[in-house]
Amino acid sequence: MKQVLDKIAEYRREFEEELKKVDAFKSFEDLRVKYLGRKGGILKSLLDLLKTVDKKDRPVLGQEINRFKIFVEQALKDLEESLSRKKAELEEKKRFFDISLPGFPLLEGGKHPLTITRRLIEDIFIAMGYDVASGPEVESDWYNFEALGIPKTHPARDTQDTFYISDDVVLRTHTSNVQIHVMKTRKPPFKVIMPGRVYRKDADITHSPMFHQIEGLVVGENVTFQDLKGTLEIFLKRLFGKNARLRLRPSFFPFTEPSAEVDVSCIMCGGEGCRVCKGSGWLEILGAGMVDPVVFENVGYDPEKVSGFAFGLGVERIAMLKFGISDIRLFFDNDIRFLRQFG
Ligand code: PHE
Repeated sequence: MKQVLDKIAEYRREFEEELKKVDAFKSFEDLRVKYLGRKGGILKSLLDLLKTVDKKDRPVLGQEINRFKIFVEQALKDLEESLSRKKAELEEKKRFFDISLPGFPLLEGGKHPLTITRRLIEDIFIAMGYDVASGPEVESDWYNFEALGIPKTHPARDTQDTFYISDDVVLRTHTSNVQIHVMKTRKPPFKVIMPGRVYRKDADITHSPMFHQIEGLVVGENVTFQDLKGTLEIFLKRLFGKNARLRLRPSFFPFTEPSAEVDVSCIMCGGEGCRVCKGSGWLEILGAGMVDPVVFENVGYDPEKVSGFAFGLGVERIAMLKFGISDIRLFFDNDIRFLRQFG
């Protein structure tokens, strides 16, 4: 009897030790099975032992074993509860969202300086009643050159060398190809601007092999050179401020006659002469002219009945002047430090 009582006491001590070490459900379950398991559990083995002792000792021993069993059961129940609580707390912590914490900053996108410039120009013309049209960048030789009075052997092709897709298909060298598309699909009178990407075999700090132009075309009855000049004057004053002055110089384009190179008084020095205008006081800003009768004939218009003017300007050039940018390549490097300065 003494032996069994000692054994119970020993199990109890052992159990209390083991109880302290349990920190997860897995070890908890192991402990439960070890003591309360129906087969081979320690309490089961004590009850088996009870059958082997003297009859008179059984009630006392039985009581002792029972007390131990209740103790084990209660201790395990408490432990199970505390483990569940800890687990729930942990999950709650994981779910917890502190609304007072500062959020993650959302990087706001901005507009590219060329987009800003293009829209600025578009808005000025839209306010004057112009439509906006576009045409293909991959273009047939006919639309890009031939229809505009630039046959295969024309020297104007030298200044507009480009990327040839095939003998008769090029990456367009200017937006003037859209003039032809517009005239072939619309009936005069109309006023349109045609923004887009163009391509030339050119690369230095003011030229990029891909750049942007905005073409303008007005066709109707009695459209005159005065209309052209007046339109460009309004445009340049709206773009650069009311002090901007305009200068036309005779020039040549195969698709306009007469043609002019259009200058604006230097927006840096106001015409005094500075580094930007190279001392001349003037900045060359666009090419323009009256639509050549041969172009009208090429699109099936009667040059006796309609007249018109056209102009073409470089978006990069205007953006560089407006924002004071000295290297055209900055537009295409996609350096965020450059881009984020605009909008
Ligand atoms: N297409 C000409 C160029 O790229 C510009 C231009 C357009 C000139 C329209 C006159 C009329 O240089």
